[in-house]
Amino acid sequence: MNHLELFAGIGGLSRAAELLYKDFGTSISTIAYSEIDKHAIKTYRAIHPSHKYSLSMGDLIEWNQTKDEQTRSLDIDLLSGGFPCQTFSSAGKRAGMLDPRGTLFYEILHILEVKLQQGKPIPYILLENVRGLTTHDKGNTFRTIKTSLENLGYTVYWDLFNAADYKLAQNRNRLIIFATTKSLPSFTFNSTVVKNTFNRDYSKDWSLTTQTKVRDILKPTVDPKYNLSKSPSYRSYILGENTTYRTVPKFDRDIAATLTCKSDRRASMGNYYTLDYIQTGNRDSSVDYKTADLRKITPTESFLLQGFREEDVKLARSAGVSDTQLYKQAGNTYSVNMFYAVLYYLFLDQRIQEKQ
Ligand SMILES: C[S@@+](CC[C@H](N)C(=O)[O-])C[C@H]1O[C@@H](n2cnc3c(N)ncnc32)[C@H](O)[C@@H]1O
Repeated sequence: MNHLELFAGIGGLSRAAELLYKDFGTSISTIAYSEIDKHAIKTYRAIHPSHKYSLSMGDLIEWNQTKDEQTRSLDIDLLSGGFPCQTFSSAGKRAGMLDPRGTLFYEILHILEVKLQQGKPIPYILLENVRGLTTHDKGNTFRTIKTSLENLGYTVYWDLFNAADYKLAQNRNRLIIFATTKSLPSFTFNSTVVKNTFNRDYSKDWSLTTQTKVRDILKPTVDPKYNLSKSPSYRSYILGENTTYRTVPKFDRDIAATLTCKSDRRASMGNYYTLDYIQTGNRDSSVDYKTADLRKITPTESFLLQGFREEDVKLARSAGVSDTQLYKQAGNTYSVNMFYAVLYYLFLDQRIQEKQ
């Protein structure tokens, strides 16, 4: 199967597909990807060497303005895209989804339309987004997305998934939309069936990066630059005092709070660990977090919490990617194991490609 990876980031879906290929020989090869961020592209190229000959489409908006002919030349079976969600949070001030230029979702639709008009509709689509997309603008945004896909002949399935259900120690709730042009009688797609299938069939031999709790992957000693300053103003900041942040961090969590892409500091907010806990596994309820030895998770640990490998961070670093960018990329990417489970369910368990 040929895969087009839109808003590719560091290629979370590509990685899930690569692992599935390794474990089962299921071939989902990424023939083209679109990404605008030069740092993400550096990491993408470094950690997916097999994509050396894949087409790099760059900015999807620019691509869609001039490159329809090239889109027609691509044979695509699966389109994936975690379209950026900023437009939804600020849409109150804009026309939001009612403005066709208001969101990059319309760039995905454009590709689907071009292929449909060509008589080669893309049979499968997987989209990922934040949970809030389902409730944004009283559900109107999500309704528009579903209706737009249905108008192009797709049956749309969706549900909320949590990375923590897929052997990753991170609470990360995400909306996954699966849409298909195929008619699949008695087919269901939701987090329960995907999770149950994953748990039923999971084997340690699978190539996934797994952990049951964050402590499983915390290195006992790391570069001191990851230690948190003890300055009273910084400690007050991370304790959520005098800030408007709604997320007040807890410390020494077994299951990490959602990694975010906002910045290095916010990316690890809620994911601070006392050196005592890292070394002994004991939680001391009398700890004074204003003075305790604390550190944030490292970029490597954030990659592991998304199902990537230590080796990926080494490769990205060798390509010149900074810690700040690595944190951002980890916060942005798909949780690999969750998409491995989705692809496993669709193409190995349900074998939908063999159905009419
Ligand atoms: C939520 S992230 C997706 C992460 C990705 N799925 C992964 O596995 O790493 C959205 C990505 O869309 C990219 N992006 C934003 N605008 C874009 C555009 N006009 N064309 C292509 N990519 C764009 C961002 O740079 C960001 O990496």
